[in-house]
Amino acid sequence: MSDNLTIVDHPLVQHKLTIMRDKETPTAVFRQLLREISQLLAYEVTRGLPMTTRRIETPMQEMDAPVLDGKKLALISILRAGNGLLDGVLELIPSARVGFVGLYRDEATLKPVQYYFKVPEELDDRLVIAVDPMLATGNSSVAAIDLLKKAGASNIRFLCLLAAPEGVARMNEAHPDVPIVTAALDEKLNDIGYIVPGLGDAGDRMFGTK
Ligand code: URA
Repeated sequence: MSDNLTIVDHPLVQHKLTIMRDKETPTAVFRQLLREISQLLAYEVTRGLPMTTRRIETPMQEMDAPVLDGKKLALISILRAGNGLLDGVLELIPSARVGFVGLYRDEATLKPVQYYFKVPEELDDRLVIAVDPMLATGNSSVAAIDLLKKAGASNIRFLCLLAAPEGVARMNEAHPDVPIVTAALDEKLNDIGYIVPGLGDAGDRMFGTK
């Protein structure tokens, strides 16, 4: 598809994703697999971060060793399902700053409405990684990125578990500067905006709700 989309077509990711898609997979296993996959996806979404060097001494000699440069990055969870991806990514990048964006869909206008917004300071100086497992219609993702840009973010990447072509197109149109990393690009949306074949409602599957 577009250059903006990276599909992490790795055997471990794809194997774990298949178990997550299976409707017989229990909540606890689903959550554990999401945590594991999010770490593998985090590896990809952080590719190319700016580096510098630090002078250290190994037991053998001194060297200039590579370390991450710049301000701590910001992870932004798009509530509520984003929290499932957030946990695993945060384990891999424990020093990251964390923010939350809460949006619900107004049933009259069908537009996303903000109910919570709390993000780290100095977003403009940080790499911002927004996380939400399902890029479906793209409406809430686009709205969340709008809010992050309004708050000053200019270097944003988007991490999801599954994407629909409709959501990717919508994101590319609204935010062509935001690279998207996902485990799989599924076939389409159904008539109520769910990804097919998908895995159902990610929030319900991770929290055991219906
Ligand atoms: N959100 C979900 O949790 N699942 C979908 O398939 C689409 C949106």
